[in-house]
Amino acid sequence: MILVLDFGGQYNQLIARRVRENNVYCEVHTALDMEKIRALKPEGIILTGGPQSVYKEDSLLPPIEIFNLNVPILGICYGAQAMAKILGGEVNPASVSEYGKTEVEIVGASKLFANVEKKSVAWMSHTDRIFSAPEGFVVTASTKNCPIAAMEDGTKNFYAVQFHPEVVHTVEGMKIFSNFVDICGCKRDWKMSSFVVDTIAKLKKKIGGGKVLCALSGGVDSSVAAGLLSKAVGKNLTCVFVDHGLLRKNEAAEVEAVFKNFDLNFIKIDAGERFLNKLRGVIEPERKRKIIGEEFIRVFEEVSKKIGAVDYLVQGTIYPDVIESGLGKSAVIKSHHNVGGLPDFVDFKEIVEPLRLLFKDEVRQAGRELGLPENLVNRQPFPGPGLGIRIIGEVTAEKIKIVQDADAIYREEIFKAGIKNLSQYFAALTNMRSVGVMGDGRTYDYAIALRAVLTSDFMTAEAAQISWEVLNVVASRIVNEVKGVNRVLYDCTSKPPATIEFE
Ligand code: XMP
Repeated sequence: MILVLDFGGQYNQLIARRVRENNVYCEVHTALDMEKIRALKPEGIILTGGPQSVYKEDSLLPPIEIFNLNVPILGICYGAQAMAKILGGEVNPASVSEYGKTEVEIVGASKLFANVEKKSVAWMSHTDRIFSAPEGFVVTASTKNCPIAAMEDGTKNFYAVQFHPEVVHTVEGMKIFSNFVDICGCKRDWKMSSFVVDTIAKLKKKIGGGKVLCALSGGVDSSVAAGLLSKAVGKNLTCVFVDHGLLRKNEAAEVEAVFKNFDLNFIKIDAGERFLNKLRGVIEPERKRKIIGEEFIRVFEEVSKKIGAVDYLVQGTIYPDVIESGLGKSAVIKSHHNVGGLPDFVDFKEIVEPLRLLFKDEVRQAGRELGLPENLVNRQPFPGPGLGIRIIGEVTAEKIKIVQDADAIYREEIFKAGIKNLSQYFAALTNMRSVGVMGDGRTYDYAIALRAVLTSDFMTAEAAQISWEVLNVVASRIVNEVKGVNRVLYDCTSKPPATIEFE
């Protein structure tokens, strides 16, 4: 495995992804001490970017002993500067910061740059830079404003790049990761089939004969988590599906129909009223997320008391949920209900999250390995807090009905039009009311926003281009058929700067 030591940079999760795209297992950790690093037995270490300055006193640096482990180390941006500082080089503020696409020229022979074009475009984002390389290092790449854009001590396999090879804008980035994986001598044998087999074995060992409750939403993540657990502990698993009243139209019945056919204990809880009461008057998105997250747990605790002696709660938390809820020093984007949204006290021995380190497309692959039906594996994601975060402002029964009906029309028309490439699409209820005219009367009603995105990892996404004809049909059906709506808008923003959901 390759260990990524995280210093809080924006693109750190992509580093793990790039390594895994080379079939090498990779974990991201923050502020690990040497004992823990040794225990992980990494074959290589990557030091990530981060917002700090290595010359400030309170800045987080990797333990100096990692440079004695005799494993290849790649420092990226802040990680490159940390390597320079620790090994005796000099880092200072740059007179010109570089941000964005920048031409990089390879100026020295390097295994890290094997088969990389001599001149190519790379993504830069820094205000400090390395002014002098440590002893034993040679400069291997430069840009106009950054003479030490890459440096290395090839004999010790220490590599440092000021630019970000993990970002797609760095044209040769994938080759650089592939070269690093080779330098580390990794076997490239990490496959989803081995992940599934290993995870089932680990779960069996951990849980033994204990009883397990799985929070099932009917979405891909929790279904795959349930699949893994069902293989590991059989009938000691009970899946609980909480209908929080914030599901899509007819969804509760559909999920129940699918899982009733599976060989597992399945319980459905109708908790719509209960969630609605808790959400009354709440408009702040993070509050809503935390309320929904906590209420989920309370319902599970109650069910577990009824079943008796439940030790573990399983959740389908995946890696983007973990990262966007704030990993180490990265900023919190949203508290995903099953991570940052968890209350402080949870009445289970442990929460088990077998997918915690997987990206969405990897989870789908795991689902296929487990033999889950393709229509389930390919379901578009639906967030745990459900329509609660697709209704901007206060959640009311009336608004839930509006967004459910509008969303159902949107889905129906996308299906009829045979559009199959969308990663995720839905209707959201903006809190905006505006003036319209219907029949001969004035209306003052809500605007529905339609969203459709294309993405593979849900960390970044682009707005999909849906044909005007289809949008026209959807818009006209929504304003005609859904009471309380007189305007339909299409969201053209990508992520970043927007997010996929509205809250
Ligand atoms: P955002 O809005 O953060 O969404 O760009 C990225 C992906 O994550 C889903 N999402 C969630 N999934 N619990 C979940 O299980 C959550 O709290 C949550 N919030 C967002 C979202 O639907 C999209 O696929």
